[in-house]
Amino acid sequence: MALSGEFMKNSSMIQARKAASSMRASSFSSSSSIIDQKLSSEPCEESIKQTPAPLPCRPFVKWVGGKRSIIQDLRAIMPPEDSYKNYFEPFVGGGRLFFESAFSSKRSFLSDVNENLIYSYDWVKKDPARLLERLEELKKDHSKESYYEARKEFQYTANQKRQKKEDTLSKAALFIYLNKTCYNGLYRVNSKGEFNVPMGSYKNPSIYDEQNIFNCSKLLQNTEISVKNYRDVKPRKNDFVYLDPPYDEAFAQYNKDGFGKKSQEILFAYIENLDRKGVSLMLSNADTELIRKLYSDKKFYLHSIDSVRSISCKSSQRGKRKELLITNFDD
Ligand SMILES: C[S@@+](CC[C@H](N)C(=O)[O-])C[C@H]1O[C@@H](n2cnc3c(N)ncnc32)[C@H](O)[C@@H]1O
Repeated sequence: MALSGEFMKNSSMIQARKAASSMRASSFSSSSSIIDQKLSSEPCEESIKQTPAPLPCRPFVKWVGGKRSIIQDLRAIMPPEDSYKNYFEPFVGGGRLFFESAFSSKRSFLSDVNENLIYSYDWVKKDPARLLERLEELKKDHSKESYYEARKEFQYTANQKRQKKEDTLSKAALFIYLNKTCYNGLYRVNSKGEFNVPMGSYKNPSIYDEQNIFNCSKLLQNTEISVKNYRDVKPRKNDFVYLDPPYDEAFAQYNKDGFGKKSQEILFAYIENLDRKGVSLMLSNADTELIRKLYSDKKFYLHSIDSVRSISCKSSQRGKRKELLITNFDD
């Protein structure tokens, strides 16, 4: 009896969610018909009043190196939305700047080398209701045992090259579940590329916020999302690129290749090339000797800002630190 009661509760929640999802979908299409109406005729006051404001969004994953503590600086320094063509984020991670900018009409290109992260963006974009069903199941079963079982399942498929559509849905859900229940939201892999973070000590981890996932989904509709090395990202003249690589002298084990001094130099050569092509760019990095030296040319503008660092075992390295925001335009 208890089991069937539980099943009823979950299936009716899922039905309610599906209904809510299709209601939202129809409200999306009604907003686009308002936009169509605006394009096809003179704007009337009524349609302007009804045009929806961008939805409030925040990242749906926790991300080491996420930009919460410096988001105001980033927003203040980045160029205004109407001054460039397309928006690019080739180290997207949790995508704090993208989500909080809530672009109203900008075409955006988001990418990262972490394919499991990108599967989760993909499912948030194309079918948030199905992703939420899986997340609800994982949340319901959450325990220490389930965490380590989920981690094993996730690792098992971690290096499989060919993914069926259903597999990518499971991986996306497992990825978000592990991210929200592991130690500090850390994504760290061993030399075989397997996720190896232990469970965090949360009493009641918040695994997802349904409304936020639907809002993120709506915002992602005008984006292209891909698994890519940043070097394969090719913005053009008058596009704007925000680059947020692993920082110099900081945590860099996002993937098995790491990101050392040599990688910072290769990135610098890529950035110089973007600058030559007439792309506007903004880079965040640590305020270190190497970074200052690389970007010392007067075509780059260096802004020094304070941020809070949380991932470090050494207490001497936690707390405030200096960061650099580097642009090739004057604000
Ligand atoms: C500092 S984090 C980005 C944080 C993000 N801005 C946020 O708000 O959460 C750096 C990201 O770079 C990605 N990354 C590392 N090496 C990369 C590469 N060669 N090409 C593309 N992405 C890479 C990592 O997977 C990680 O998500």
